[in-house]
Amino acid sequence: MNADDMKKSVALKALEQVKPLLAEDVVIGIGTGSTANYFIDALGEYAMDFKGAVASSQASADRLKACGIDVFELNETGSLPVYVDGADEFDPQLNLIKGGGAALTREKIVAQACQRFICIVDASKQVDVLGAFPLPVEVIPMARSLVARAMVKLGGDPVYREGVVTDNGNQILDVHGLNIQDPKQLEQQINNIPGVVCNGIFALRPADVVLMSTPDGVDERRPL
Ligand code: A5P
Repeated sequence: MNADDMKKSVALKALEQVKPLLAEDVVIGIGTGSTANYFIDALGEYAMDFKGAVASSQASADRLKACGIDVFELNETGSLPVYVDGADEFDPQLNLIKGGGAALTREKIVAQACQRFICIVDASKQVDVLGAFPLPVEVIPMARSLVARAMVKLGGDPVYREGVVTDNGNQILDVHGLNIQDPKQLEQQINNIPGVVCNGIFALRPADVVLMSTPDGVDERRPL
């Protein structure tokens, strides 16, 4: 099984868990990235079975619409029964690093709004301690250097993701070299730096379940 086959198989597994929740008044949350894209493509077949989706990025909104799925603003919906999205890393407590696709802020908002967060990944995303994947931090443009200096004080090595503007009009720093022993604490500490819009640690609201694709099938992980 190649990498794309593994992404597709975990997306289909997530769809099996989501299908029983679909109903004409139901709006679900949809994430961003190559694995989420497979989920969107498979969900298209069921477009008539539910009301629509809230998307965590413009790219996913466009893809949903192309699949015939109506897209809603979160402000128009209540709490979402389920949110399906990928991740860049996950640890045994199902804390995540997200934001490789620069959509971390909207992803964190949709994750907060959902009752159940199903994270879909392949086995390469599994780690004991978060931080090998450079931590994305979305910053207000005028604060980029200020935030970068603060990240150096926290032991990180921030790199400006040049040429990337988020859906919110902001910039991204990718912070290398962090060994994240206490994800909840670091998530809050980074959030408190003026100019930070959001950081890619998802520990205050982790995943509820991680579906992990392996060459032998899909494993279901719950927090240890
Ligand atoms: C988008 O900003 C990210 O959080 C993605 O969810 C993450 O990068 C996973 O993407 P892939 O499914 O493409 O690996």
